[in-house]
Amino acid sequence: MQVVATANSRRDIDLDIRFDGRTALVTGAGSGIGAAIARDLAPSGATVVLADLDEAGLARVAAEIAAAGGTAHVTRVDVSDAASVEAMVRFAVETTGALHLLVNNAGIGGPQAVTGEYPVDGWEEVIAVNLNGVFYGLRFGLPEIEKAGGGAVVNVSSILGSVGFATSPAYVAAKHGVNGLTKNAALEYGARGVRINAVSPGFIRTPLLEKNLSDEVLGALAGMHPMERIGESEEVSSLVLYLLSDRASFITGSCHLVDGGYTAR
Ligand code: NAI
Repeated sequence: MQVVATANSRRDIDLDIRFDGRTALVTGAGSGIGAAIARDLAPSGATVVLADLDEAGLARVAAEIAAAGGTAHVTRVDVSDAASVEAMVRFAVETTGALHLLVNNAGIGGPQAVTGEYPVDGWEEVIAVNLNGVFYGLRFGLPEIEKAGGGAVVNVSSILGSVGFATSPAYVAAKHGVNGLTKNAALEYGARGVRINAVSPGFIRTPLLEKNLSDEVLGALAGMHPMERIGESEEVSSLVLYLLSDRASFITGSCHLVDGGYTAR
């Protein structure tokens, strides 16, 4: 069984989606899925703002974008802190003139333990980053997107926003919350020119997984997907860019799986 994707699941990036004249802000852009979204947005005509807690990661991704001929603005943010998220949005608007597209992607895995033994501080941290962080992004991003004449938001949720995963109560609760927030905000902003959707990846090969899990566990996770592999960040990014784009003009309030069939079982 293969853990990583086959060669044909990766692609030379030519999604043929344009965002000329629009500013796109991506949180958690210093690594993994957020970095892939940032790299895909850069050649699309968007003005890209990358935000992350990890400044070294931000510098790495901005350098990759520059090496490919693009440009990106970077700003440090702690998405679990409302004032920091407000400052991030202000930075994007002041630096580029407006905000049209927002990807609330930053997240953490958190501790693993059954609910009856789950560390309380771990619960608080996962909820603060993975759920509060998305709320703050919406809270401060939506008024600016509306002011800019409309746009789109994608919240990066998870298959664990739809199903449980034993030993991950905080992550599962936070991601279910992200799906709820997505639907609620979509109801409120549907007629106000802002589409809001969630993307729910299956297990994706990023540092979030690779830092914490052995090859053996990654292999077992791969086997839980009918495609018998875990996914690649670029496979999530394709869907995110589509949902941000005008091609998705009648899509809002929905949670879109990109999971190699995981939740079809
Ligand atoms: P990653 O660990 O590679 O990247 C996450 C980024 O978020 C890092 O650069 C990190 O510095 C940043 N971050 C963490 N806490 C932050 C905070 N408080 N403020 C600002 N930035 C912060 O992880 P990955 O896999 O790229 O995850 C991205 C999103 O995708 C997360 O929301 C995660 O829950 C979600 N996801 C990941 C899956 C996977 O299997 N890798 C599966 C399903 C969802």
